[in-house]
Parts: sequence; C-alpha cells; structure tokens
Amino acid sequence: MATLWQGRFSAGPAEALQALNDSLRFDQRMFAEDIAGSRAHVQMLCEVGLLTESERDDILVALAQALSEFRDGNFAFVASDEDIHTAVERRVCELCEAGAKLHTGRSRNDQVATDLRLWTKGAIGEVINQVLGLQMVLLRRSETTEDAYLPGYTHLQQAQPVMLAHHLLAHGWALARDVGRLQDARERLDVSPLGAGALAGSSLPLDPQMCAETLGFARVFDNSLDAVSDRDFVAETLFALALLGVHLSRIGEELILWASTEFGFVTLDEAFSTGSSMLPQKKNPDIAELARGKAGRLIGHLSGFLATLKGLPLTYNKDLQEDKEPIFDAVDTVLLTISALRGMLDTLVFDTERMAAVADSPYAAATDLAEWLVERGLAFRQAHEVVGDLVRRAVAGESTFVELVTAHNKLGPEAAKLLDPKTSANRRNTHGGGSTKAVKRQLQRFEAQLNHQTDAKREPE
Ligand code: ARG
Repeated sequence: MATLWQGRFSAGPAEALQALNDSLRFDQRMFAEDIAGSRAHVQMLCEVGLLTESERDDILVALAQALSEFRDGNFAFVASDEDIHTAVERRVCELCEAGAKLHTGRSRNDQVATDLRLWTKGAIGEVINQVLGLQMVLLRRSETTEDAYLPGYTHLQQAQPVMLAHHLLAHGWALARDVGRLQDARERLDVSPLGAGALAGSSLPLDPQMCAETLGFARVFDNSLDAVSDRDFVAETLFALALLGVHLSRIGEELILWASTEFGFVTLDEAFSTGSSMLPQKKNPDIAELARGKAGRLIGHLSGFLATLKGLPLTYNKDLQEDKEPIFDAVDTVLLTISALRGMLDTLVFDTERMAAVADSPYAAATDLAEWLVERGLAFRQAHEVVGDLVRRAVAGESTFVELVTAHNKLGPEAAKLLDPKTSANRRNTHGGGSTKAVKRQLQRFEAQLNHQTDAKREPE
C-alpha cells in the first residue's frame, strides 16, 4: 500500500522510520473529528466549484461509511496508514473515484490542527461537566454539615477554628476558577485553521470562512502560517488541566491527613478505599493518593509540551505531532481522577465530634481575646502582647489558660467566655469569614455561581 507522498520517492520507507513517524496508534482517537473536517471541506469544495454535486455526494457517502465502519470496529487499517488522515483518505479513495479529489487545496497540516481543535473543544466540555459535578458534591456536603467546625491551619499548625462548610467551600471556589479557565481556553481555541493549506493558503478559490461555519467554529484563522503552527490551545488547556490537577491533589492531601488515625476527621467508605495485602487492619486512601500523584503527571505534560514548542521555527514541524498524547492523557487522567474523588467525597463520613474536640483547644481563641481587647480600646499590638504573655505562662505550667484569662485585670470572666467551645468561630462575621452567618451567605454565593456556570454550559455553542 502506498504513502500519500510516494510520487516523489523511488523506494518505500524504512521500518524504523515508520515506527517512529506513524501516529495512527494514538491519533485514531480523532476519527470522528477527521471525518467532520473532511465533510466540511468537500461541501466547501463543491460550493466554490471544485467538485460537482455528485462527486461531493459520493465522497460524503464514503465518509459516512468509513465512520460507521470505525464505530462498528470494522474499519480495516493497513500498514501504510501513517495517521488518521491517511487512513480516512485511503478508505474514501477505495470507496469512490471522486475520493482522489478529497485532498484538493488541503494539507494534513491544516487538517490535523482542525481535528485537534475540534477534539479539544469537546473534551473541555466533558471536563467542565465533571468539575461542576465535583463542585456540586462539595456544595451538598457543605450544606449538610450543620454547624460542624474543625481547626483551621496555617503552617499545618492549629490557627483558628473554622466551620467545616467554610473549609469545604474553599476547595469549591478553586474548582470554580478551573471551570472559568477551561471556558476561557475553549473560547480562545474556537478558531478554524482549515483552508490554511500546508502553510500559505492556496491558489484555488477556497472559502475558509465557510468551513469554519460548517464546523461550528466561532472564527476563522487570520494568518495561514500561524494557523498551521499554533498549538497555544494545547498548551493552555494543559495548563488549565495541570492547575485543576493541583487543586485535586490538595484535596487529596487533606483527605489523606484527615483519614489518618492521628487526625481521625473522616472515615472512608469501603467502596472508595483499599486494603493492604499484608496488614489486615489497613484501610487506605488510595484515591486521594492517586489524585495527589497524578498531578505530577499533568504538570509533566504541560512542561514537556512547552519544551516541545519552544524551539520551533514557523511553520509546521513534525515535532508538533507530539501535541496529541499529552492532551489525550491529561484529559483522561483528569476525568478518571475526578470521578473517583467525587465518589470518595460523596460517601465519606465526617467525624464532627472529633473535629470539634481537636478544635476546642482554648488557645484557638487567642486572637479573639486580643480582638476583644481592641474593642475595648487597646491597640492591637498591645492586646497581642497581653494575650501572648498569658499563653506563654499557661504553656510554662503556671496555671490553665482559662484561669489566667479569668484572673487578668484587663480580661476577666466575660472574656474567658470566648474560650468556650464554638464561640470563637462564630464571632468572625466579616465577608467570607468564619461565622455561621457569614458561611451561610457564602454558601448562597457559591450556589449562585455554580448555577451560573451550569447554565452557561447549556447555552447553545
Ligand atoms: N500526523 C501528523 C501530526 O500529527 C499530521 C500532519 C502531518 N504533516 C506533514 N506535513 N507530515 O502532526
């Protein structure tokens, strides 16, 4: 079987070249997109008079047959099918004579860029759906935590008690930004490169705008050289996925800590945890660990691909074939990770008594005591010193913190009430802060933004 470029060569390709060069193994994933691009191209060729209507129809029928063969698993690839574009064109030529005209005014360079943009556009939609689903779980779990609270941490040292909903929603907002980034990336990639040819357009009267419209792209390329060499959309999507992966990793890391005996804040559902082959007592948070581990792989795809791009002169270079495996794998990895993590978050049980017991250290309210003094006219720096001194004395064993606060002339029994469980978290009523009321208001804002993002997704493209 022949290559697409055999005319220029007197001998066939070496096996080693084929093994390195062929991309069919992974780019057949863009089969449907390749067919869609070809359909738009032949419709345009007919409109501008380069194909007769019957030639166009013959090719469209052949393309439809190729697609159904592929979907049914009956598409017979042959050894010379270097990539998906070659395979489809070869099959169309087998099925109809007009097939020889399919590649008129087109190059695999504008073709592959078109296919991958179409594929990535669809994939971003799927990822967004999954992230919205994960946000929904965080929202539901936040709504049902009542007024559970736990220690809030800085430096992984207990800082101030916070509501559990407050904590869970913090992850939710990060995911909301991920959705925004993915939407932005999708908006920017919505450009059709079809009609750019190999690099410089065509002497034939092509109509790239028509192809763009048929394919549902928002815009057409402005510069043919840029159109065939631009892979910003791959890099940008990889970045959005890598940062999403980092957010999933952080959720994972916390779940790992929380599921440990030392923290004991959550019990994992059996369906979403694993056992140990040697240690019968173990119940391991593998999903959370994989969420953490997979982030490395996602970051690798981004940095690897940026390195691929950085030295490339205009325009198309075969290096660009390295765009597909990272983006395919990044999308698969994120989808797999989110669906498992979502199940894990949905089913785990919070041990809110344990959380409260750990959060109820009287020292957790130290800042509230200082702020109480500020309300009574003391400068914050002095208030900080007064409370700091009491903490130091309590830690040194002079007396309990509560007793020292009660006995202090500037503080006393009224201030000591701040050290009661639950009191501290509830005093921070500022916007986005920790009180029950502030968290309720935040929950409403989060739900509103989630509805907004979900509705935006439904708008016709
Ligand atoms: N398989 C190639 C890729 O993925 C298609 C473009 C090939 N273009 C070429 N001039 N050889 O990039």
